[in-house]
Amino acid sequence: MLKLSQLATALAVVVATGTAMAGEVEVLHWWTSGGEAKSVAELKKIMEGKGHTWKDFAVAGGGGDAAMTVLKSRVVAGNPPAAAQIKGPAIQEWAREGVLANLDATAKAEKWDSLLPKGVADVMKYKGNYVAAPVNVHRVNWMWANAEVLKKAGVAGAPKTWDEFFAAADKVKAAGLIAVAHGGQNWQDFTTFEDVVLGVGGARFYEDAMVKLDQKALTSATMTKVLETFRKIKTYTDPASPGRDWNLATAMVIDGRAAFQFMGDWAKGEFTAAKKMPGKDYLCAAAPGTGNAYTFNVDSFAMFKLKDAGAQKAQADLAAAIMGPQFQEVFNLNKGSIPVRLNMDMAKFDDCAKMSSKDFVATSKNGGLVPSVAHGMAVSPAAEGAIKDAVSQFWNDDKISVADGVKNIAKAAATK
Ligand code: GAL
Repeated sequence: MLKLSQLATALAVVVATGTAMAGEVEVLHWWTSGGEAKSVAELKKIMEGKGHTWKDFAVAGGGGDAAMTVLKSRVVAGNPPAAAQIKGPAIQEWAREGVLANLDATAKAEKWDSLLPKGVADVMKYKGNYVAAPVNVHRVNWMWANAEVLKKAGVAGAPKTWDEFFAAADKVKAAGLIAVAHGGQNWQDFTTFEDVVLGVGGARFYEDAMVKLDQKALTSATMTKVLETFRKIKTYTDPASPGRDWNLATAMVIDGRAAFQFMGDWAKGEFTAAKKMPGKDYLCAAAPGTGNAYTFNVDSFAMFKLKDAGAQKAQADLAAAIMGPQFQEVFNLNKGSIPVRLNMDMAKFDDCAKMSSKDFVATSKNGGLVPSVAHGMAVSPAAEGAIKDAVSQFWNDDKISVADGVKNIAKAAATK
């Protein structure tokens, strides 16, 4: 039996470490690349510091399709994780199922309403209640370039238009190197595709075609130009690209096997992890024609309803940690994104992040800020899946004419 003095000591320890209600948090995410793993390790550290046990539930696969499939089966089996990386319109779909926990108590205590851009806060809420906590803002419409390769090929700086881009890519090819490092998976094909829609058509056209899924825009002459440009990009990729993971494509740019990659700024997390310096070893620039626009991708975590009091306390601590200034800084320094929490000090961030931050604010005022379809920010998961498939079929099969490609994508966009 425990003696009274032992009991007193045990209680004192519990009070001192604040672990009276420690719990386990099982967190589902798809952050498995070098830069991503470093970023998520910071969250684990904070949670362990609060006395909780972190149970890592990582499901590899960039873009998260595999993670979402696994999540569905766990929830259907009545065994959801404590938290899962869920974002954009999918948050509403999960909330409608009645499985998400209400985070209002934490949000109120931590003043989330005043710390988040309203547009982001709205996405995190279901019927006015917070059900998800945002971690960052990723910009998707980036082009990454190896500075040394450009120099070798005689390309002066990052191309700003698609014409300049193809001229530069020809020079890289002539120098015997791969112009575009591409990972042939449908979400990566679409990441490039939406850059082309934005670069060729502009932000208004992007909104009409990709967000409103307006049939007139989707079958317009602009869309024909988009598909022609998109198909031309493929001719600058290497034959080993089908199926390649995004971070392996980034590695090709990092080691100088390739000149360019079109990818969101989680790619910068890989450059950072490889100790490469922006402006010196590599360049970050908006994808051609998209300098005045910004495709955003906000990562967030939703919590599932759990009965155990310790688990609930761990969830509340996780939500608070995610929005806390310490995590917002260190996570985003590693991840390549910028803090979603407003008024954060950007002193420690590099020039790419500073540019992202400046452009985020500027485009939110001039109409250039648009949601990324490739990263689940714009349309329902069903419509997104259908358009992604149509785009990838076109990318992979040169026998599909541009006219048929346009028709197939427009038809897929009508999926409810
Ligand atoms: C995105 C996600 C990013 C990054 C990327 C590659 O959908 O928002 O945080 O992880 O996938 O996995």
